[in-house]
Amino acid sequence: MQTALKQETETRQFAIPAGVHAETVVSVKHYTDRLFSFRISRPQSFRFRSGEFVMIGLPNADKPVFRAFSIASPNWDEEIEFFSIKVPDGPLTSELQKIVPGDTVLMRQKSTGTLVLDALTPAKRLFMISTGTGIAPFASLIRDPETYEKFEQIVLTHTCRDHAELAYGEELYAQAVNDPLIGELTAGRLIHYSSTTREITPRMGRITRLIENGRLFTDLGIEPLNPETDRVMICGSMSMLKDVKTLVESLGFDEGSHSQPGGFVVERAFVG
Ligand code: A2P
Repeated sequence: MQTALKQETETRQFAIPAGVHAETVVSVKHYTDRLFSFRISRPQSFRFRSGEFVMIGLPNADKPVFRAFSIASPNWDEEIEFFSIKVPDGPLTSELQKIVPGDTVLMRQKSTGTLVLDALTPAKRLFMISTGTGIAPFASLIRDPETYEKFEQIVLTHTCRDHAELAYGEELYAQAVNDPLIGELTAGRLIHYSSTTREITPRMGRITRLIENGRLFTDLGIEPLNPETDRVMICGSMSMLKDVKTLVESLGFDEGSHSQPGGFVVERAFVG
């Protein structure tokens, strides 16, 4: 009742901007004081490719602030899922982190992005390298059957500061493996590899180091990265993107795009 009232007040005070979907928050899950995920209703007309991002805002101003969010749900899902950081003074996430089921979230109509399967040339293995909320687009892609049509093996890496920040990825992996719809596809083909950099855990280190020193491959008992057989998708902070990009380029991978598919693609994990 209270939530419905709050929503009505918000809608009355601030008109929904033209060309923007006003969707209802279905669920919210807080992982740590820095990370949370939420699901919203999906407009029937909204289509996207797994791995893309969309602009999100709140109906709390005449000209709401919009920020880019990778869509974490697969394109067949009836709802839309996001995985977000909480920036204490961030223009959007400082407010967004307070949403509860029943609230309204604004979403622009068009999605876009470079982390799409079409931007990669065919190969055997797909490495998805992520840090922090950079796992979001991969949460979408590992639940998309097309990923398994195009690649034999998927290696999803996730590195965070501490263990609690890895929880979203751990849940995601468990769900993808046990899902009645895609569990059959992921079985034995989807690998989840996580590490921490600040909290002491059995597996520590930045992913750049774990690739350079070969630990990623020895831990998993798989062949090292090879541009002949592998493709790479990268999503994280600006400095992470720069370092991983430099690393894969040094191994002989070339960057792909929609117009010219290649060996790797890069997208920053958005904050604000
Ligand atoms: P570190 O703890 O050594 O900074 P954040 O939450 O700040 O976005 O960081 C998420 C993870 O990304 C952290 O484990 C962090 O390690 C790691 N990271 C930050 N910068 C880089 C980089 N340039 N290359 C690889 N990993 C990075």
